[in-house]
Amino acid sequence: TQQINGNIVWHSCPITKCDRQELINQKGCVIWITGLSGSGKSSLACALSRALYNRGKLSYILDGDNVRHGLNSDLSFKAEDRAENIRRVGEVAKLFADAGIICIASLISPSRKERAACRALLPLGDFIEVFMDVPLHVCEARDPKGLYKRARAGEIKGFTGIDDPYEPPLDCEIVIQNNRDENSSLSEMAEIVVSYLDQN
Ligand code: PPS
Repeated sequence: TQQINGNIVWHSCPITKCDRQELINQKGCVIWITGLSGSGKSSLACALSRALYNRGKLSYILDGDNVRHGLNSDLSFKAEDRAENIRRVGEVAKLFADAGIICIASLISPSRKERAACRALLPLGDFIEVFMDVPLHVCEARDPKGLYKRARAGEIKGFTGIDDPYEPPLDCEIVIQNNRDENSSLSEMAEIVVSYLDQN
């Protein structure tokens, strides 16, 4: 089918997502990790990527901090820019999933509306939202980059959880309570996600 948008016509290719998935023997999807700064999103993303790699599965991480060095280097942390940051990563994640890759997106993505918009880009079941459910005081005590301290001192304005909102998911696929001793539980947390993928 031909999809026409204004003067732009969708061009399809005879090699499909199914063909690509068959070639690499896996199913493309998006694992979307949301949570406060310091909740362990990036650590889980890496542990998960490692666990998948060990099982011969190809994944790729889109990390908020990293993407903001390149593709999204023009964006700040004001609401419109966060929305655009998430929209772009959602679109890129969709392309990775279409390529047959397990795309792990790890962004604060504080707004339910924008996370829902990213979910809506993918077929049902292909967007797995993982909430790093870590209380603010735990993230703040960890403060791995010293950003909470600077936000409390008023040196960073609009810091998520301090003077900018975070909306926890109401209904997501996986909730991870990561307030235990971090290193020992990283691979356990990754296993929770891997078993979800196995079962679904
Ligand atoms: S968002 O809200 O989804 O657009 O944020 P994201 O792209 O994931 O970027 C979050 C990282 O940016 C650093 N940082 C801030 N976070 C929150 N609020 C403000 N104002 C801010 N300024 C800089 C911070 O290191 C976040 O890293 P993580 O990995 O989440 O700790």
